[in-house]
Amino acid sequence: MSKNKLQKFAEMESFRNVFQCAAADLGTSRDATGMCGHWSERCFKNQHPIVLELGCGRGEYTVALARMFPDRNFIGVDIKGARMYHGARTALEEGLENVAFLRTNIEFIDRFFAPDEVDEIWITFPDPQMKKVTKRLVGTTFLQRYQRFLRDEGLIHLKTDSPFLYAYTEAMLQANSYRVEVQTDDLYRTLQQDPILSIQTYYEQQWLSRGLTIKYVRFALAHRDHFVEPQVDIERDTYRSYGRGHVRSDQETA
Ligand SMILES: C[S@@+](CC[C@H](N)C(=O)[O-])C[C@H]1O[C@@H](n2cnc3c(N)ncnc32)[C@H](O)[C@@H]1O
Repeated sequence: MSKNKLQKFAEMESFRNVFQCAAADLGTSRDATGMCGHWSERCFKNQHPIVLELGCGRGEYTVALARMFPDRNFIGVDIKGARMYHGARTALEEGLENVAFLRTNIEFIDRFFAPDEVDEIWITFPDPQMKKVTKRLVGTTFLQRYQRFLRDEGLIHLKTDSPFLYAYTEAMLQANSYRVEVQTDDLYRTLQQDPILSIQTYYEQQWLSRGLTIKYVRFALAHRDHFVEPQVDIERDTYRSYGRGHVRSDQETA
């Protein structure tokens, strides 16, 4: 591990807005942070709604949402500590008390929150996981996890560059009859007046600069017992062959 990363990890230990498990617990389902059910009183010290950004990377979007909505609390979640360091540091420097970061594998996300503790979820530019449906962050495997802690009818926002993931999400929503609030395959053409458009994630800026359109879906996750995984054949994204690593210039991996 590079010295730079070690320094960031050491510094992050002292950040009061970062919650992370010891390395040994990162791959387990244990909530070693002890925050499950206690985010409002122990972290934010208020009862404002809690919003998650899953796969937050450097946390620019989490921080930007927190600036825009001071009456909501935002938690950026990612497995890469050296990335979230940047967002956590910015939030501390700006005195943003409505921002926190949780370092974990999203597969274990339901261990860190109690039923109904979360109000909304943003999923921003996830890997479309074209080969593994159970790893898709908007797949039914993950939706089952989310409903354990997201309030009934809590909103899920997906932003993606991927036609594959967008088509899959459309089929999944239809198969499960979820209530869709917004669905567009070209966000910046259709929702021009929405204030949320004034902020973009890092990857979103990269994909936009390559001339790709951004797709956006907002739907309500009504709690249910049975989930239907759609059986659809979807054309794979071809442009992904250049690899996501080329999008980010600094090539951080931890
Ligand atoms: C393509 S980047 C997008 C980052 C940011 N949302 C953006 O739009 O700029 C995907 C992020 O998701 C994180 N990620 C992917 N799978 C994950 C998982 N299972 N658990 C935690 N983080 C994950 C990666 O570490 C990475 O930072």
